[in-house]
Amino acid sequence: MEKTFVMIKPDAVKRRLIGEIIQRFEKRGLQIVAMKMVDVDKELAKKHYAEHKDKPFFKDLIKYITSSPVVVLVLKGKNCISVVRKMVGATDPKEAESGTIRGDFALEIGRNIIHASDSPESAEREIKLFFKNSEIFEYNMPDADIIYE
Ligand code: GTP
Ligand code: MG
Repeated sequence: MEKTFVMIKPDAVKRRLIGEIIQRFEKRGLQIVAMKMVDVDKELAKKHYAEHKDKPFFKDLIKYITSSPVVVLVLKGKNCISVVRKMVGATDPKEAESGTIRGDFALEIGRNIIHASDSPESAEREIKLFFKNSEIFEYNMPDADIIYE
């Protein structure tokens, strides 16, 4: 079953939106298989967002992501990488549809409250960057045969 990486960014943590965001994933039927609060240091932030290192907003992005603790999760479920990206919504919250996380809780691209992996390759890379194997759990989901056909 597919896994994806999610980061609840510093602005969402400070705004006490952790529960609200996680609840959406749980209600959808996705399984939380790893979760913790961490301080992202500059080195880790630069690795995580390496693809953007030459962008004009890179410095501000690193400052934003390292400004206070974040909550990181690994979610598991059928097609969860694309399902979670759709739940998160467009990068720029002013373009994000209502009903998406960014569309419901954010206004600006530089404060868009959540990150989610955009491909199987980035999911694998990001999960490895933030979690040891021993921090990722496997446990029975009793309603799996109700959620899945
Ligand atoms: P992530 O899930 O955080 O990776 O967002 P994304 O995949 O929807 O967008 P992308 O990877 O292109 O950008 C990474 C992050 O950089 C965004 O989530 C924003 O926080 C930030 N970002 C992207 N574009 C801009 C921009 O034009 N200005 C500013 N200030 N930040 C930006
Ligand atoms: Mg991205």
